Amino acid sequence: MARFRSFFRIFPVVALAAALLALIASGAAAETGEAPAPKPPLVPHALAGYKMSPTVNDCLTCHGPATAAKAATKAASDAHFVHRDGARIDKLLATRVYCNQCHLPAPDAKPLAATGDRP
Ligand code: HEC
Ligand code: HEC
Repeated sequence: MARFRSFFRIFPVVALAAALLALIASGAAAETGEAPAPKPPLVPHALAGYKMSPTVNDCLTCHGPATAAKAATKAASDAHFVHRDGARIDKLLATRVYCNQCHLPAPDAKPLAATGDRP
């Protein structure tokens, strides 16, 4: 019984020490810091109507590595096609199939002109 009572007497001290240790540890983690993850650019044009599935991805008709130059835009970067182990696959990584999961439309995004390739 006496032992319990003394534990409760030092409890605030123990809790404070734990909190301090956690604070120091999180500071140390921030210092070793990995670079912040890159942010996906917003899409300056509307996304509606483009199919995104593991077999069909309309976005790649303009943003594919082989199509982007002709469409006067950028290709999705290697990060969309290259596995963590460095192997390039000839299709999108499974985690990159649904483009709009990461790329949100800009607030003022309008549909691309039907005739041209500019937004
Ligand atoms: C008809 C061609 C075309 C299609 C299809 C298309 N885009 Fe675009 N996209 C463009 C053009 C043109 C731009 C503006 C030029 C630029 O900023 O590269 C652009 C810009 C972007 C950007 C901004 C790139 C940057 O670095 O700022 C993203 C992201 C993007 N599109 C994603 C998508 C997604 C996701 C889809 C499918 C839902 C899609 N696009 C379908 C032509 C297209
Ligand atoms: C898991 C999140 C994620 C998904 C899904 C994703 N992207 Fe990206 N995308 C990013 C990030 C992060 C960047 C910025 C860093 C980079 O360029 O790799 C980016 C960059 C881009 C760029 C600009 C490249 C440049 O050179 O500036 C284009 C274009 C693009 N993505 C298109 C697409 C298209 C099209 C799809 C679907 C086929 C797609 N993305 C799916 C995260 C994603």
